[in-house]
Amino acid sequence: MVGLLDGKKALILGVANQRSIAWGIARAFHTAGATVRISCQEERLKQKIERTEEGRIVDKIHLCDVSDENSVKSLFADIAKDWPVLDILVHSIAFAPMQALENRFSLATKDDFLSTMAISAYSLIEVSRYARALMQGQGGSIMTLSYLGGDRVLPGYGIMGPAKAALESCVRYLSYDLGPEKIRVNAISAGPLKTLASSAFGNFNEALKLIEEKTPLRQNITIDDVGGLATYLASDLSKRVTGSIHFVDSGAHIMGG
Ligand SMILES: NC(=O)c1ccc[n+]([C@@H]2O[C@H](COP(=O)([O-])OP(=O)(O)OC[C@H]3O[C@@H](n4cnc5c(N)ncnc54)[C@H](O)[C@@H]3O)[C@@H](O)[C@H]2O)c1
Repeated sequence: MVGLLDGKKALILGVANQRSIAWGIARAFHTAGATVRISCQEERLKQKIERTEEGRIVDKIHLCDVSDENSVKSLFADIAKDWPVLDILVHSIAFAPMQALENRFSLATKDDFLSTMAISAYSLIEVSRYARALMQGQGGSIMTLSYLGGDRVLPGYGIMGPAKAALESCVRYLSYDLGPEKIRVNAISAGPLKTLASSAFGNFNEALKLIEEKTPLRQNITIDDVGGLATYLASDLSKRVTGSIHFVDSGAHIMGG
């Protein structure tokens, strides 16, 4: 992978800590030669990453809360000050209120449903709009993170299921809208990984066990596996690939029963 992203500039949204999928992607992009910037939702998270030795692989750490449009606007304004062109955008953000994940699906409130959709799906449209302006008609690669629970019922995934379904549909419509400008939009559907976000879901350990017992490869994935696929999607190796959901889940998505 060394050299695959030489000269490219990548912005990765959604690092909470070094277990984050976004962090695995940042590491892979750095190894492949890209200049990498990341964003964290809160100052507290940003400071933690800054203090680590590994944090040095990133050029700069920004703050961005996608529930606040001014925060998104100022992130991209900051990026534009330093980078005339952005090549790669990674959206690795999701949120659902805890009570909505704990309750029965049929008890989901309108507010919980809308906030889950806004942060986990709509935000992809918003950040893509800002990224498009920075891609300056020279093309680019945008990607987001999804999960099989957007397509099938996975007990415990609850309200995040419809949000991932919407996110995957946004990938298809964004890819059609931005394609004439040579901007590609794809989703990575990753297998279960122990992260801050996944700790909110019931049945999580069961999901990890199922991957080891029932999938073709019988192995759980790592954030570096996601980084590998993301590097391919960011690079010219995938220059005619857009609008698709790419699985890195040891083959879990092909299984029935
Ligand atoms: N961990 C898994 O098993 C798994 C599997 C497939 C897909 N995913 C997806 O991968 C993505 C990253 O999740 P992760 O597992 O790395 O967990 P994570 O907790 O490390 O990352 C989630 C990120 O979303 C950010 N976020 C939430 N609300 C935000 C807001 N309002 N503004 C800005 N950022 C906000 C959090 O701060 C965090 O950085 C998510 O979309 C998740 O659904 C996770």
